[in-house]
Amino acid sequence: MSNDKQYIGALFDRIAPTYDGLNHGLSLNIDRRWRRKTVALMPPVEHVLDVAIGTADLTVEILRQGKAQRVTGIDLSEQMMAIGKSKVEKYLPTTNDQRPTTNDPKVSFLLANAQQMPYEDQTFDAVTCAFGCRNFQNLDEGLSEMYRVLKPGGQVTVLEFSYPSNPFVRAVYDLYFTHLLPAIGRVVSRDKTAYTYLNRSVKSFCWGEAFVQHLRQAGFRDTRFQTLTFGIATVYTAKKNGKW
Ligand SMILES: C[S@@+](CC[C@H](N)C(=O)[O-])C[C@H]1O[C@@H](n2cnc3c(N)ncnc32)[C@H](O)[C@@H]1O
Repeated sequence: MSNDKQYIGALFDRIAPTYDGLNHGLSLNIDRRWRRKTVALMPPVEHVLDVAIGTADLTVEILRQGKAQRVTGIDLSEQMMAIGKSKVEKYLPTTNDQRPTTNDPKVSFLLANAQQMPYEDQTFDAVTCAFGCRNFQNLDEGLSEMYRVLKPGGQVTVLEFSYPSNPFVRAVYDLYFTHLLPAIGRVVSRDKTAYTYLNRSVKSFCWGEAFVQHLRQAGFRDTRFQTLTFGIATVYTAKKNGKW
């Protein structure tokens, strides 16, 4: 936990205040559409684990589409989750004009490492992870943990950056991710390294069939993936064998 927490947790703690604005601004709000599409591919269930919940954008979309009664989110960054908590507070429907608190039973947040989850086997009906997997120190450990805590028959849904196959789109993408994004990120977040790290983490990460191989290695079956916006992002779904 310590290395992950010290580096990844601290990095996201630093950029938390500007994370949402930069995400939506730099992607021209396309990231919202990706999250909508991702959640649309989930079956409705009782209890979802949102791994690397961050500022809770995926969780809010899960609630908005009525795909879960309860969401538990884990993350290594307290600051990202603090923003997520206030977002969930604002979103959740209120009764008698009383705002629900962050203790509202619908969504709970926990500081925990995706590679060592503090949950029993087969706890959750579904598991999600948006833009989290490429930050894991060990992808296979993270996916194995997702498999372990998922109930048989449950679905994992992962949204992650990928790499466009069209040469023209790829050239524009390279220019954007290698030069423009780190420069804008540096100025807005006032962090010298975070957005260079994000760029590197995207380019060195696996996508498409290669990512599917990792899902299968973790035990998942019925693996599918769908590219979004020329392959800039990809949504993956897979099942844990067993009775639904
Ligand atoms: C790019 S943000 C994505 C946040 C959110 N899911 C979203 O869609 O915007 C990545 C998040 O993953 C978290 N993270 C990275 N490695 C993690 C790990 N091993 N365990 C738990 N969270 C992790 C970071 O702290 C950060 O909040």
